[in-house]
Amino acid sequence: MKIAIGSDHAGFHLKQVLIAEMQAIGHEVFDLGAFTDEQPADDYHLTGAQVAERVVSGAVERGVVICGTGIGISIAANKVPGADAALCNDLFTAQMSREHNDAKVLAMGSRVVGEGLAKEILRVWLATPFAGGRHIARNQNLRRIEARYSRGAGTGGGGRAL
Ligand code: RB5
Repeated sequence: MKIAIGSDHAGFHLKQVLIAEMQAIGHEVFDLGAFTDEQPADDYHLTGAQVAERVVSGAVERGVVICGTGIGISIAANKVPGADAALCNDLFTAQMSREHNDAKVLAMGSRVVGEGLAKEILRVWLATPFAGGRHIARNQNLRRIEARYSRGAGTGGGGRAL
């Protein structure tokens, strides 16, 4: 699979570990940064949105985003309509986010999970298929909510384009 991955400075080291893990399984990984663990001017919102944009556009099939808790970067990814990023810091939610939610972006917190658990969460998440069935209509409701609040593309608030 083609997989985009991104982090902030806090998620940098775990990102490197997970890149190696995915490449070892045979996936093609696109690293969108951060490229250092030093605190930058820009933060998790940039890479979170960039990973989500690549998933939604179809450039890649899945995305992985990491910050300290996974919260900020998952919120950022979910600002991109259609991203459906899931914050999974345990194995059960990783499995359910695929089976029920068809989540195509996985978020984790580098200050929450150790490397061993993070690798296992990633493997479960990548290997678990969407169950379909009753979940299809439920997930389509998310698109309706997005459409209701959509004001068109753009940076929206005078910030620089992502
Ligand atoms: C950075 O200190 C931290 O706030 C960030 O990585 C993340 O946890 C935010 O949600």
